[in-house]
Amino acid sequence: MPVVPLKDILDRALAERYGVAAINIFNDLTLEGVLAAAVERNSPLIVQTSVKTVRSIGLDVLYGMWESMTAGIEVPVCLHLDHCPEREVITECLGRGWNSVLFDASRQPVEENLRQVIEVVAEARAVGAHVEGEIEAITGVEDGIGSDDVAQRQSLEVAVDFIERSGIDVFAPSIGNAHGVYVAEPTLDAQRVSDLVEATGVPVALHGGTGMTDEQFTDLIARGCAKVNISTGLKVAFMKANLEFLRGSEAANKWDPPSLFRDVRTTVVQLATGYIDKFGSAGKAW
Ligand code: 13P
Repeated sequence: MPVVPLKDILDRALAERYGVAAINIFNDLTLEGVLAAAVERNSPLIVQTSVKTVRSIGLDVLYGMWESMTAGIEVPVCLHLDHCPEREVITECLGRGWNSVLFDASRQPVEENLRQVIEVVAEARAVGAHVEGEIEAITGVEDGIGSDDVAQRQSLEVAVDFIERSGIDVFAPSIGNAHGVYVAEPTLDAQRVSDLVEATGVPVALHGGTGMTDEQFTDLIARGCAKVNISTGLKVAFMKANLEFLRGSEAANKWDPPSLFRDVRTTVVQLATGYIDKFGSAGKAW
């Protein structure tokens, strides 16, 4: 079963309490590498693209890469647009074939967010796609979107009401998590995840995965974080692997791009398989 709806992936993960890695890719090599990791581990995978990545590669080229690299793939995968505050970009991606989107109206008042997300859910449903929603901005800047200001957290009642009335398929709460590199181990409100999942039955998306401890992942996944987002970790690993290889190229005065790509790909696959193993989704393909 190749490309499947987000909900198919997350409902199973929530029921069995494992996490599915949702990894932000940013070029052909990282896309191919994370897909290879999912195949190697026989695991479901959510591939995420930021608005910045969509813009830098171009909608058609990026979707063309996705189509050709997932043709014949035998693990469940889906293509998700991460944090997107722009309705036009959501419409473009849904129209092109993305089967999941995060409409990020978290800087808007909850009522306005709700009004718009209901429209986004209807738009997504019309093409068989699913929607992630959020009402509290996740601290930190992710590919140009967001802010380092700590967002105000809404009450459980407001969050539950938003989830129920919006019809979203996955909810991204603020629990003390942040995008980017944590300066100190974050203090996370894990109980909030349990409360939300218990009240709604809707899976939670854990943002800011890079830098969390194994214990935090295990605990949060057991509480219902079925989608676990990783972005910064891949960017850092990718850049460092390139740097290290290029330093060697310079020292040896040997310049062979395919060797660079092969080397960096190994790092990408290792990083993705590491998260898949940690989140418990290895062997969970169907
Ligand atoms: P990190 O960059 O901290 O891994 O967070 C990823 C994320 O939540 C993407 O939305």
